[in-house]
Amino acid sequence: MFSYKFSLFELYVLFFILVLQRPMATTRAEDDTESHEVAEVDNNWWRHAVFYQIYPRSFMDSDDDGIGDLQGIISKLPYLAETGITATWLSPIFKSPMVDFGYDISDFKDIHHEYGNIDDFEELILQANSLGIKIVLDFVPNHSSDQCEWFKKSAAREEGYEDFYIWADGKINANGEQEPPNNWQSIFYGPAWTWHPEREQYYYHQFTKEQPDLNYRNSEVIKAMDEVILFWLDKGVSGFRVDAVNHLFEDPDLKDEPLSGKTEDPKSYDYTQHLYTKDLPEVYDMLQHWRALLDDYSQTHGGPERIMMTEAYGDIKYLMDYYENKEGVKGPQFPFNFLLLTDLNSKSDARDFVFNIQKWLTYMPRNHVANWVMGNHDNPRIASRFSSNSVDAINMLIMSLPGVAVTYNGEEIGMEDFRDISWVDTVDPPALNAGPDKYKLVSRDPERTPFQWSAEKNAGFSNADKTWLPVHPNYEELNLELQKATEKSHYTIYKDLVQLRKSEVLQQGHTRLEVFNRNVFAVIRSLKGDKSIITIINVGPEEEVVDLHDILDDVKQLTVLISGANSIYEKGNAIAVEEVTNFIMAPQEAVVCMIE
Ligand code: NOJ
Ligand code: MG
Repeated sequence: MFSYKFSLFELYVLFFILVLQRPMATTRAEDDTESHEVAEVDNNWWRHAVFYQIYPRSFMDSDDDGIGDLQGIISKLPYLAETGITATWLSPIFKSPMVDFGYDISDFKDIHHEYGNIDDFEELILQANSLGIKIVLDFVPNHSSDQCEWFKKSAAREEGYEDFYIWADGKINANGEQEPPNNWQSIFYGPAWTWHPEREQYYYHQFTKEQPDLNYRNSEVIKAMDEVILFWLDKGVSGFRVDAVNHLFEDPDLKDEPLSGKTEDPKSYDYTQHLYTKDLPEVYDMLQHWRALLDDYSQTHGGPERIMMTEAYGDIKYLMDYYENKEGVKGPQFPFNFLLLTDLNSKSDARDFVFNIQKWLTYMPRNHVANWVMGNHDNPRIASRFSSNSVDAINMLIMSLPGVAVTYNGEEIGMEDFRDISWVDTVDPPALNAGPDKYKLVSRDPERTPFQWSAEKNAGFSNADKTWLPVHPNYEELNLELQKATEKSHYTIYKDLVQLRKSEVLQQGHTRLEVFNRNVFAVIRSLKGDKSIITIINVGPEEEVVDLHDILDDVKQLTVLISGANSIYEKGNAIAVEEVTNFIMAPQEAVVCMIE
């Protein structure tokens, strides 16, 4: 397999982790609540993990058809293990016509042929587990593909399937023409209703017209989806990332939504306020039902706690009740925290960062686990959203915060969006809906380009003549191989961070956030009996000098554990008390130090 030599610094970090780490007793979070429920070791695997998101179509192509696949992922598992990652979630790998690149599933219990087959999947689980990596799958309950057998049967009104989807008669307008039943719009532009000539009714779809919404008011749908969950649990997955959960229910009376006043365009999703199509109270019931199913499975089958993490962009108060409602009924282990993704950008200053981090921690119910998502396949990458100089600082930030860190594949090497994808090469459905003039405003293709492994053909992703999306032309300078060979690169910094994150102070420690000025802030993690860790971040474009005594009492010296490429400090440096008074932060840089 792969051979790996530890650098001096890694030995240092390892020493730090081993010597200072007390036995993995229960965490503060577990003391009060969940420790009695599942065996201790298994309960902990996800709580401080880095969840590495793999976008299978773009990760690694094993058969040179220009499309990533399961054998490609298997071939890169040693890379993930070497990086120190212990959990990964895969965007959908199921049978699909690929209208929305796997988020349109035609068979929930089969693997998409371009990705491999069920034997490949079983091999993936086996190999991943043998390397200590847990596999989490994408569960897409809100909709299926229009090519799914269930939809075909429902369209034909086959017994038992009549109400599997949301069907409704149209309205006749003043001109005597047929119109959709109400003013609901799809997230991907245009009406959320499409006429089905065979059934002679409209069906509802929150996303593309090829993704009809399932009807969760039908207990047979719930049963069918429970079977999907159990099928993959039996294959050995450790949990699910659950797609678009806040869209699971719609108002049964199909009432028109009030206009938002935000846009004049009646086809835009922003045209109405989504009172009847989003965040309905019934969503909680489904999430609690799935949590109970997972807990029951973990208890009856033993092994690690099976988890779910949910995707919903929405109001924070609404999301917090996913963790647990007022009555203490639990939903997902954690709803994804998108605040740092949606509410921060290149214009954000130190106060915006601290405010948004603190916001999640303030609203989160006690004894639950925070999480920090900085990227995914639906949003611009870190290098493009902030700047390519900010990659290390942002990775240092999310790795220093308590709970789960989520990394989208490629962020560990600072990949950039490929914004110049031509209209001809564009494949993302909302971009196609927007048309040749406006597609760049909404296209998600730029953040989905193939992983840049090396300077070889197609960045080492594939030997095909054409890849499904073009490779970013910067791959000769920006690739993993090069970064592995460079002493201080995005990758080596990322890898040091993953290791450091395994220390007890970062896993269990109390979190304090401090703003120095408009550009500089710090995260301080401390645990009784351990040395504290401070991450200082300058998000501004200029060098800054701060006095660390402003926020630290009794500091004698700092030891640099991790520093960015442009930082004046090097790992292993001891910074004496006098220098702490005039602590120099290069632009868009961060540094992680141990407080002595
Ligand atoms: C969220 C997924 O992340 C996105 O890629 C997809 O288009 C929609 N849900 C629909 O499933
Ligand atoms: Mg392939």
